[in-house]
Amino acid sequence: MENKPKSSNTVWHHATVTRQRRAELNSHQSVLLWFTGLSGAGKSTLAHALEERLYQMGYHTFVLDGDNVRHGLSGDLGFSNEDRVENIRRINELAKLFVEAGVIVLTAFISPFRSDRDKGRSLVGEDFIEVYCKCSVTTCEQRDVKGLYRRARAGEIKDFTGISSPYEPPLHPELSIDSDNDSIDQCVEQILQYLIQRGIYKPKQQ
Ligand code: ADX
Repeated sequence: MENKPKSSNTVWHHATVTRQRRAELNSHQSVLLWFTGLSGAGKSTLAHALEERLYQMGYHTFVLDGDNVRHGLSGDLGFSNEDRVENIRRINELAKLFVEAGVIVLTAFISPFRSDRDKGRSLVGEDFIEVYCKCSVTTCEQRDVKGLYRRARAGEIKDFTGISSPYEPPLHPELSIDSDNDSIDQCVEQILQYLIQRGIYKPKQQ
């Protein structure tokens, strides 16, 4: 396994406060909602809007956001293929810890490579929910909220996803969100409906 620890002199310590016990205390399960898509496809916006809804209903949540994480944990990484792989490896491990801690984790990273997302899926198992924010480069570029597409086209930013660096769309995402056409509210509703079906989100009875 490529992530084998360098130190072999470590022994796993089993916690008495298990994930199951945390779920009982919280009155909800923990899962990982893995948002993937181009820059500007709406991953962060959607993750935060969904988190707000869940939070208001008393769920324990946390958003791990690409731009934010790159200020700290992944501050030493750039956007080469190799650095992106390492970025997502860290987030996979981090997200797994959050899931163990009983939290509904929402990650918003481009995560352009299928194999890296698949590693997250095998690490977290059936509680890994891949949410594909499907939005064309044309729309992302028109929105260009951060002005990065313009700079990438001008050659000022190299290895820019969708322009000069690849994006591999998910083949079998649990959810595909049409963030090109649907409103944020519609997208959030679609995800909530899925969480209801999975028995993770329970709307309060009136
Ligand atoms: S990932 O590829 O490693 O998953 P991540 O989600 O952390 O990327 O960071 C993407 C964010 O970094 C984008 O939303 C954008 O704001 C910014 N960014 C800066 N340079 C690039 C680049 N070359 N390609 C893509 N995004 C970039």
